[in-house]
Amino acid sequence: MAARLICVSNRVSLPRKAAAPGGLAVGVLSALKRTGGVWFGWGGDLSEDDPSEPEIHIRDGVTYALLELRRDLFEPYYNGFSNESLWPLFHYMPTKFRFRHEEREAYEAVNRQFAQKLAPLIKPNDVIWVHDYHLIPLASRLRELGVRVPIGFFLHIPFPYIETLRVLPTYAELVRDLTAYDLVGFQADSDLRSFHSAVAHCVETARIEPDGLIRLGDRSFRSGVFSIGVDVEGIEGEAARAADTQIVRKMVDSLVGRKLVIGVDRLDYSKGLVERFSAYEQFLETFPDNRGHVTYLQIAPLSRKDVQSYAEIRRSLEQASGRTNGRFADADWTPIRYLNRNFPHESLMGFLRAAQVGLVTPLRDGMNLVAKEYLAAQDPADPGVLVLSQLAGAARELSAALQINPYDSRAVGHAIQTALTMSLSERRDRHSAMLEILRSNDIGVWANRFISTLRQTRESPSPVSRLPAVG
Ligand code: G6P
Repeated sequence: MAARLICVSNRVSLPRKAAAPGGLAVGVLSALKRTGGVWFGWGGDLSEDDPSEPEIHIRDGVTYALLELRRDLFEPYYNGFSNESLWPLFHYMPTKFRFRHEEREAYEAVNRQFAQKLAPLIKPNDVIWVHDYHLIPLASRLRELGVRVPIGFFLHIPFPYIETLRVLPTYAELVRDLTAYDLVGFQADSDLRSFHSAVAHCVETARIEPDGLIRLGDRSFRSGVFSIGVDVEGIEGEAARAADTQIVRKMVDSLVGRKLVIGVDRLDYSKGLVERFSAYEQFLETFPDNRGHVTYLQIAPLSRKDVQSYAEIRRSLEQASGRTNGRFADADWTPIRYLNRNFPHESLMGFLRAAQVGLVTPLRDGMNLVAKEYLAAQDPADPGVLVLSQLAGAARELSAALQINPYDSRAVGHAIQTALTMSLSERRDRHSAMLEILRSNDIGVWANRFISTLRQTRESPSPVSRLPAVG
């Protein structure tokens, strides 16, 4: 019997029209659509008591198992430990970090509930792939329930160097829980090196081999880099189709021939939007000929609204866009169009294709799939230019982008000007070089590499791998 893939993530979204831009959901869904299998996780509903059995939906060969979360645990688990402790720390932003024991206990409790609800669904040939920082303890909890099938973990966000990780009072437990997986995967070399620094710090006897095998006394597990890609062909098709839709045509018509600079990000302080707005303001100041001739469209759907840092960043962005528009707008021109709404994925791809410049300037990002989506959405005959943060995981593969430090607003402003004035031949050269890289590491390659490496952990003997493979 062929092995079945079970992906587990905090949030599971049934395919719907307006999905959040970039990120985990796009990656997991495209991977599962290729292999078939189960996507298990929180469906978005809260319950007063312990959650009942997951609700099952089957769509296009993918089984969605949707769990409810207990209302009293959700706030401290999701807003608290996941998004006020782990998220800022993992993004190297300790000033936004806070720690509360009750929140960490809720995080543990939710992971136990995930394990209890998932364990009965597991069959002996299954392979389990856990995604992201909300569920680090899940393998440990599943093993306690007797689950023996291979379990892999992929971190979509950065992993911090031990000296930053150590800010978290319970960092040692977190590292210990990661060592319970058969395979731990990261976006970039720097994340893997940081993980190794943490393992070496926490387990004196650990031996880390050059191929990523980590020996811990009586057992071993694998670690590696698996940079996530995008569905290049799917995006090319979506973007080309979307160009003829009413929503994209109306947006393009409204530009009345002006050039378009675009940003598409969840409204998150890690995305560097305040810095980006101020870079655009500097650009208009330094290169005044562009006033009236360039429009910057920033799509930023609201995210994690109940977390204080997100409410604060929202206020700052409203002020910053208002200031730039107040200062430079004319009766017939608005410099920044700032939208907190979401669009269907196809329309977003159409917007990206229509833009001469894609601005992807996070202060820190695991990968940033919008950077890759922007490139895949371009018309190869007349492509736009990507301005990309050196601090995004995508910067390593996308070396032909105009790379900038997102804190350096003068450099970002100059990069926008360079992008807008770049010759067609240089735009084509840069675009085709990067598209080739995207094709060679698309979403299918990423998923296959991770799953086959996870399966191999059971083929090369280690004490855990010799345990009988029963659910
Ligand atoms: C990032 C994280 C994902 C998360 C997504 C949306 O991409 O890596 O784990 O699902 O943001 O955030 P949310 O908190 O709305 O799930």
